[in-house]
Amino acid sequence: GRCVVAVDGPSGSGKSTVSRRLAVGIGARYLDTGAMYRAITWAVLRSGVDLTDAESVTKVAGEVDLRIGTDPQGYGVTADGVNVDREIRGPEVTGSVSAVAALPAVRELLVARQREIIANAGRIVIEGRDIGSVVAPDADLKVYLTASEAARAQRRSAEDAADVAATAADLARRDRLDSTRKVNPLQQAPDAVVLDTTELGIDEVVARLRELLTE
Ligand code: CDP
Repeated sequence: GRCVVAVDGPSGSGKSTVSRRLAVGIGARYLDTGAMYRAITWAVLRSGVDLTDAESVTKVAGEVDLRIGTDPQGYGVTADGVNVDREIRGPEVTGSVSAVAALPAVRELLVARQREIIANAGRIVIEGRDIGSVVAPDADLKVYLTASEAARAQRRSAEDAADVAATAADLARRDRLDSTRKVNPLQQAPDAVVLDTTELGIDEVVARLRELLTE
């Protein structure tokens, strides 16, 4: 039957890996909402509009033909027909995404798209920053993943083959922007199960979530 699992948390908390594995394990679709904000940001950067010009950024965001797959074993993201899977993980997009994601009109647009995708999926694991609190407040299971700042920076720098100190600085900067923005900030839903993954392996976290789903 229907089943919606909402996974929220800061960067490097293990959200993506855990969410994908869980989705494969329970035969669900998977939605990476961060990739949607990243793809919009890619289009905004390409358009050349000033990032501080909210009106122009919103206009570009509204015109992008954004498509995202929901196969947990290989989803692709395209913007205006261009596959942007690689570019959305690059430093330019990472450096600007939190500013674009802070714009209320951008969030409104993407939250509506995300709800549509949920409505059309029977079972889905959806990950982001505002899933349990805003996008899917009646999810069957809400999880909030955390980990120490050091562990998060370690994991992310290993993934990106990047310098740990620079990665730590980027994570701290985005955490601050994402949790202090006025609209839909990163937050724990009151009914979310909080899991600190600092000392937990991916398999342990996934196993714990599967337990919670059968309870
Ligand atoms: O993978 P990582 O944790 O680095 O970030 P992400 O999940 O790809 O999200 C990138 C950025 O998109 C975040 O830093 C937020 O600014 C924004 N975002 C958001 O505002 N709301 C979401 N539901 C998902 C991402």
